[in-house]
Order: sequence, then structure tokens, then C-alpha cells
Amino acid sequence: MNELTTELMELLAAAAAARERAYCPYSTFAVGAAVRTASGALFYGCNIENAAYPSTICAERVALFSAYASGEREITALAVIADTPEPVSPCGGCRQVIFELAPRAVVLLANLRGAWRITSVAELLPDGFALINRLGGR
Ligand code: THU
Repeated sequence: MNELTTELMELLAAAAAARERAYCPYSTFAVGAAVRTASGALFYGCNIENAAYPSTICAERVALFSAYASGEREITALAVIADTPEPVSPCGGCRQVIFELAPRAVVLLANLRGAWRITSVAELLPDGFALINRLGGR
């Protein structure tokens, strides 16, 4: 699937709105994310930084954790946007989180200049780390 559907455009607009709410006084690099779940609900994420730098959390994780915290686990799509020359490239940690929490998601990466790319978890993180099949998870 490589088409910017109306639904994906709506999700991208949500991610762009979330980006405006980024709390990033240290890096000044604002990132927005949004996820859609099977029920049709949208969840928002932006990066939220902290003076203790490692306590910062990325936009993608905020959006995914928000969906899970609301009881929504079937993530159908994730959009991420930042002011980058090319469509934003999620960090390695977020790729691992997407791998586990949104394995079937369509992933839409974009920038503020209108460039976008539709990708998948398999493409972003081949051979991600998994424990859940061995230990069972809830
Ligand atoms: N950031 C994200 O929100 N998502 C990513 O995939 C990469 C990095 C944030 C974290 C930090 O607040 C800022 O961008 C600079 O690293």
C-alpha cells in the first residue's frame, strides 16, 4: 500500500497538530505522532523532554502508550512528522517499541515540506527483539 488515503491524511494532520504541543526546550526539535486503532480512535503523541535528558520520551512512544493506556491495542496506522529534510526517521528505540506494540501498523513518515513515505514495521526493524513468544505477555 503506497497511497496517501484520506484516512492517512487525517492521521498526518493529527500528528502535525500534536507536534505543535511538543515540549522540547533542550533540543528544540519538535516531533508529532498519531496512531489510529481498529475502533477508529485517534491517539496523539509529541516528544516531551526533561532536564534529566534520558527521561525524555519520543512522540511515537507517547502516542502508542496513550493508545494502550486507553485500552486500545490494535494499532492500524502510525504517522510521524518533524521538520526534517526527508520524511522523519524514527529512532531505534521507537522502532523496537513499534515492533512490539504495533506490529501490523501502516507507518507514515513525513516532514513539514510535504514529503512522505509509507513503510512498515518489517522494513523499519527487521529482526526486532521479542520475548513475548517465550514468556507469554498480556
Ligand atoms: N525524537 C522523537 O520524538 N522521535 C524520534 O523518533 C527521534 C527523536 C525526539 C526526542 C528528543 O526530544 C528530540 O527528538 C531530539 O532527539
